Amino acid sequence: MRVMSGSPWWRNAVIYQVYLRSFADGNGDGTGDIAGLRSRLSHIRSLGVDSIWINPWYRSPLRDGGYDVADYRSIDPRFGTMEEATEMIKEASELGLRTLLDLVPNHTSSVHRWFQEALSSPPGSPPRHRYHFRPGSGTDGTRPPNNWRSVFGGPAWTRVPDGEWYLHLFDASQPDLNWANGDVRAEFREIIRFWLDRGASGFRVDVANALDKDPLYPDVSSEQDHMIIAAEGADHPFWDRDFLHDVVREWRSVVDEYPGAMLIAEAWVSSWERLALYLRPDEYHQAFDFRFMLLPWDPEVMKEAIDTALAGAASVGSVPTWVLSNHDVVRHVTRYGLPSVPDARDWLLDGDRSLLDEEAGLSRGRAATLLMLALPGSAYLYQGEELGLPEVHDLPVEVLDDPVWDRSGHTEKGRDGCRVPIPWSKSGESFGFGSDGSWLPQPEGWGGLSAAAQEGVPGSTLELYRTALEVRRTHLSGDESLEWVESDPTVIAFRRGGDVTVLVNFGQSPIPIPQGRILFSSDDLPDGMLPADSAVWVARAP
Ligand code: GLC
Repeated sequence: MRVMSGSPWWRNAVIYQVYLRSFADGNGDGTGDIAGLRSRLSHIRSLGVDSIWINPWYRSPLRDGGYDVADYRSIDPRFGTMEEATEMIKEASELGLRTLLDLVPNHTSSVHRWFQEALSSPPGSPPRHRYHFRPGSGTDGTRPPNNWRSVFGGPAWTRVPDGEWYLHLFDASQPDLNWANGDVRAEFREIIRFWLDRGASGFRVDVANALDKDPLYPDVSSEQDHMIIAAEGADHPFWDRDFLHDVVREWRSVVDEYPGAMLIAEAWVSSWERLALYLRPDEYHQAFDFRFMLLPWDPEVMKEAIDTALAGAASVGSVPTWVLSNHDVVRHVTRYGLPSVPDARDWLLDGDRSLLDEEAGLSRGRAATLLMLALPGSAYLYQGEELGLPEVHDLPVEVLDDPVWDRSGHTEKGRDGCRVPIPWSKSGESFGFGSDGSWLPQPEGWGGLSAAAQEGVPGSTLELYRTALEVRRTHLSGDESLEWVESDPTVIAFRRGGDVTVLVNFGQSPIPIPQGRILFSSDDLPDGMLPADSAVWVARAP
C-alpha cells in the first residue's frame, strides 16, 4: 500500500521518549529538567526523529516518577516553570520536532486538591464520588472491599481514618479516579485543551485500559488476572472494559479541534482484536503494541507477532506502533543478552549474573532496532537506547526509588535500572548529566557509552541510529507494504516497497546477503556475509 500524500504525520513517525528526570540536569540539583532538555534538543534533532514524548512533568510528589500528578496544569518546580515548558515546546517546533505529553487520567496523586477534599468530606459526599471510596468487607469493615491487587503489589485498597477504603490500582499515593463522575470527565477535557493551547501535539495516555471499574466491584475471579499485562477483555472488573471507549470519544472530539494533534494509548490488552477497538476512527490515533517488545530473541515468535500486528492494524485501516524499550521495562540490549527464562525482571533482583552475555545483547539489540525501524508504522525510541545503554542491573537496593520495590515486599527490584541518568560526556561530573551528581548512580565506565564518546565514530550505536533513521526516511517512508521473503527458519527476511530487502540473522553462523546495494547493516559484514545476531538492509540493484 502506498502512503497517501497528506497522510498524517504520526503514521510513520519516529518518536523519541524523554524521561525528563534522567535526561539532562540544567540546574545542578541531580534531577533532569526542562533547562537540561532544552540544552540537548540538538542531540534529539540530530537523530532525525519527528517528535518527542515527555513523561509527566507536572507538579508531583514524584512517588511514582511523576505518574502521581498533584496539579495537571503546572510544572513541577524540580523540572522548571510553565514559561520554560512553553518555550521548550516552541524551540522544539522550530527544530521540526513536535511535542507529545503524557496524560495520566486513571489516577491523581493523593496530594491532589480533589483527593484532599475527598478525605475531609464524609462518606457518600460528592468529593468522594470523584474517586472510588467503598466500605470495607468483613463484619466490622476492616477488610478491603474486594480482592483486587495493586499492579505494584499488595492490596489495591487503603483505609482512611473514617473507615472507608479507596481504590488504587498502583501505589497508595495514586488514588484511582471515578470516570463515571461528571467533574472528572469535564476536568480532563479542559486539561487536554490547556496543553494543546500551549503547543503540544497530543498525548500518550497512561494506562488507557483501566479507566472503567465495574460499579458492583466484584472480586477478580481465579481465572482472571490482576496484572496489567494479562487483561482479559470486557468482562474483567477493571481492565479493558467497554465503557472506557465513551470517554476516549469525548477526548477525541476535543483533540480534533487542533489540526495535527494526536492521542496514543498505553493499553495492555489481551489481543489485537481488543487493541483494534482503541483505534476506531473516533478514538485513539495509535496504540502501543507491547507484544513485540516483550518477546525473546526468537525469529519464529517475532515474525508471528509482526504478522499479527500488521493484520490487526490493517483491519482498522491503521499501521502498528513499535517499541523495544521504555521507562517501564528492562532495556532491550540487556533483555536480549539473557536467556528467555527467567524473566529479565525477575533476574534483576538475584538472578545468576553469569547468564548475561553483554556482547550478544548489544549485537541483538542493534539488529532488533534495524528490524523495528524497517517495519511499516511508527516507532518509539527510549532515551539512551541510541547509545546502546544497558539496564543498570546492579543498583544497590538502598538507592531504589520505584514504589514497586517496597510494594512487592522487596521481591521485585523495579524499574530504576532503565531510568539511570544519561551519560553525555566521556568523563567529569555525572558524565555531563549535570553539575552536581545524579539522582540514581551511574555505573563507572559509563563515559565510554556517552554521546561524546560515540559522536562521529563509525559503527557506534549512536551513528547506527542516525544512519538508520536517515535511510528509513529516504527508502522506506513512501510505502506501507511488507512482503515476507522465504528464508531459513533462523532468519527473518522481508521486502519493503518492492525495493528494500531486510534480513535479520538469528542463527549461529554467517549467511549470504541477497544481490543488491547494501544500504546499511548493524555490524561489519566480513566476506560479504551477514554474521549471527545482525541485520542488513539491501536495495534492489539499479
Ligand atoms: C504506566 C506508566 C508507569 C506508571 C503506571 C502508573 O504504566 O508507564 O510508569 O508507573 O502507568 O501510572
